[in-house]
Amino acid sequence: MKKGKKVTVIGAGNVGATVAFILAMNGVCHHVVLRDRNTEIAKGKALDMSQAANAARSHTIVTAADDAAEMAGSDVVVITAGSPRLPGMSRDDLLMINAEITKEVIQDVKKYAPDSIIIMVSNPLDVMTYVALRESGFPKERVVGMAGILDSARMAHFIFEKIGYGSGQIRASVMGGHGDDMVPLPKFSTVAGVPLTDILSDKEILEVVERTKHGGAEIVGYLKTGSAYYAPAKSTAIMVEAILKDTKQIHPCAVYLDGHYGHSDVVSGVPVALGANGVEKLFEMTLNEEQKDKFTSSVNSVRSMIDVLKNKNFFNQETV
Ligand code: LAC
Repeated sequence: MKKGKKVTVIGAGNVGATVAFILAMNGVCHHVVLRDRNTEIAKGKALDMSQAANAARSHTIVTAADDAAEMAGSDVVVITAGSPRLPGMSRDDLLMINAEITKEVIQDVKKYAPDSIIIMVSNPLDVMTYVALRESGFPKERVVGMAGILDSARMAHFIFEKIGYGSGQIRASVMGGHGDDMVPLPKFSTVAGVPLTDILSDKEILEVVERTKHGGAEIVGYLKTGSAYYAPAKSTAIMVEAILKDTKQIHPCAVYLDGHYGHSDVVSGVPVALGANGVEKLFEMTLNEEQKDKFTSSVNSVRSMIDVLKNKNFFNQETV
């Protein structure tokens, strides 16, 4: 019998558990392994999801991993483990905490799932993708960060709220890092092929752009104790599906730039084709001066966080 597809999700918090649940419901893989420092939580959620899968007549089984070795043979490893920002904690404090968690998790992935494709979800997203890439020593095609799909989906939703038509037909484009200086691209956004710039006024477009940039914070403002998880999880599941089904679909994802768009040794969000080999092609769009400047400042803010890690001699591996 052909080997079934296996996905490990590390971190059984809201995002990780929702990724696992979506995968269990859509039957895109045969086995989802859920791993968390709190094994009891992972066990409870895995059991609940396996029962839901039976109710849904899905063939996917979900198990909790007592031991990291249970991720062996995974085609994809999704990493959502990380700490949220707590009161009194600076951005750099959070950066260090999550970088250490990522480093630790990556050791397990290297050991037990050396042929997997890593999808990074933990924040700060672009920097954690860089850490995962560098510490794993995996080829750059096999380490990819989620966020562009999420940010584009948020922008599409805000466009829909403005026009009230075309839901499901809106193609919004966002590139750059997953932070306040992400780069929504209204000029590259369309509704059923009609340029957004022919549908909304400049003022309305600016409102969409600003709301997109703060889309995550808007939800934190409502939830108070946590951040968004349905759209982040769905965006992650779309990437898993593209890889497992080898669809070669093009999505904005966080990947290593090696001279692309004029930047090197950094991670940022750009359009890529996803397939069985991970990132199979990176597309370089022709940007105007304004878009280029915005992209560069987004890349630079990711680079400054990577530099914080470099200055603390964080990295075990010399180079990517
Ligand atoms: C967001 C956070 C989780 O954008 O990055 O919702």
